[in-house]
Amino acid sequence: MELVDLFVIGLALIFLRLWWRYWSVTGGGPKNLPPGPPGWPLVGNLIQVILQRRHFIFIVRELRKIYGPIFTLRMGQRTMVIVTDSRLIHEALVQRGPTFASRPPDSPIRLVFSMGKCAINSAEYGPLWRTLRKNFVTELITPTRVKQCSWIRKWALENHMKRIKSEAFENGFVEVMSNCRLTICSILICLCFGAKISEERIKKIESILKDVMLITSPQLPDFLPILTPLFRRQMKEAKALRKRQLECLVPLIKNRRAFVEKGENPNQEMVSPIGAAYIDSLFGLEPATRGPLGEEEYVTLCSEVISAGTDTSATTVEWAMLHLVTKQEIQDKLYQEIVAVVGKNGDIQEEDVEKMPYLDAVVKETLRRHPPGHFLLSHAAIKDTELGGYTIPEGVFVEFYTAWITENPDIWSDPGEFQPERFLHGDGVGVDVTGTRAVKMVPFGAGRRICPAWSLGILHINMLLAKMVQAFKWLPVPDAPPDLTETYAFTVVMKNPLRAVILPR
Ligand code: HEM
Repeated sequence: MELVDLFVIGLALIFLRLWWRYWSVTGGGPKNLPPGPPGWPLVGNLIQVILQRRHFIFIVRELRKIYGPIFTLRMGQRTMVIVTDSRLIHEALVQRGPTFASRPPDSPIRLVFSMGKCAINSAEYGPLWRTLRKNFVTELITPTRVKQCSWIRKWALENHMKRIKSEAFENGFVEVMSNCRLTICSILICLCFGAKISEERIKKIESILKDVMLITSPQLPDFLPILTPLFRRQMKEAKALRKRQLECLVPLIKNRRAFVEKGENPNQEMVSPIGAAYIDSLFGLEPATRGPLGEEEYVTLCSEVISAGTDTSATTVEWAMLHLVTKQEIQDKLYQEIVAVVGKNGDIQEEDVEKMPYLDAVVKETLRRHPPGHFLLSHAAIKDTELGGYTIPEGVFVEFYTAWITENPDIWSDPGEFQPERFLHGDGVGVDVTGTRAVKMVPFGAGRRICPAWSLGILHINMLLAKMVQAFKWLPVPDAPPDLTETYAFTVVMKNPLRAVILPR
């Protein structure tokens, strides 16, 4: 071998070493990113994560123990900064709210469903988001509107109670999650379109929106765009699903428009007065940067409400019922409170649940012990900034791992125990679930992007629990005790859905 060959090989080895080092060291360096597990060239930590064959939330649980309050994962070309510390979360979301209030770019498949980020949850921090969010808040969840629409919940809850009764009669038990999903979904569809539609159509919408959530979950090309050509089939499937979503929801929009503009209501499905349905407010909306919205945008914006409000609330009811079934003393205490406020057979009104502090404690303890989402939605900084002494570049995915806050024994005593009493006279007294003063539990997020419908979500949960416990005693199915194992299905749910036996009170 000639000297020159040796020189070239040496140079190549040095280059390879530098190249490997550049890719494998995640934190520090001139970029000053938070630390993180060493990755592989080009793919970063992606393969390591995939090889674990567990959902991301379970991997992050382990990584937090090693890397602490703030760390980086390089998932192919996507850089993720994961924030787990309550003080850093408060600093980012509340104290420096506007800086961290944006959303990262959407994947091509998500863009198909969001109509180019024309949805409250995915819009970047700016005028479009402001217009959509303000409209949502003033049109859907002001106290006057909530009161005006209380008949919708009354109707849906009556159907719910009849349905669980007949399911128990037929099967000997009730499946909690599927029933609650259907009921909440029917409420949200009626809030959006002002229409009472058949259970069959509600189930169809529910199933399409579930498929949308599945297909928009992160896939390989979202991390490695170079692979996009290999995933053409997925894009084709996504477009076909979008077509089905439009075919299913556009008729509801057209019927509503005919009702609003011409007073037409041929099959008598339109039941909300003009102006009381969410879609009515969208008909006249012209966001400054986007102009008038069309049917496709209406479908996106209404689907967002139905999807965002269904699984989150239904999951909470399921976990709450699990504890009521397995800890009869908690269920008895709750039942006594309901009887004290409305009587054994009294019709529970929405104002009544506000007079039930123990119910409030049960719901808060459920949201603490089983937050439906272990992360908030992905955030992004509007410009390069710093957090915890590290640089957070504009556009990277900032993920707030909020589940750790409520598992942290420095913040909560016996965090793994389910103790509603802690909210009456313990470490939960006076906790602010909006995280404005401090972050001790933030199931709805905090700051600019906090869930705009958190009080509506709590109302749905309260009403379902109060009605179900007033009418029936809930017991475990004999020889099939409930299983606490959790799994991820958009929210963190029971792996084996809760089944319970019900006895009329
Ligand atoms: C127990 C019930 C609920 C829980 C736990 C929950 C939780 C959340 C969380 C964690 C976020 C993300 C916050 C962030 O990214 O910082 C969010 C956003 C959102 N939620 Fe909820 N939610 C619930 C009910 C609802 C309901 C009933 C609706 C609609 C009727 C709704 C509509 C939305 C919307 C539109 C956003 C996007 C906000 C934005 O990006 O500005 N949520 N929710």
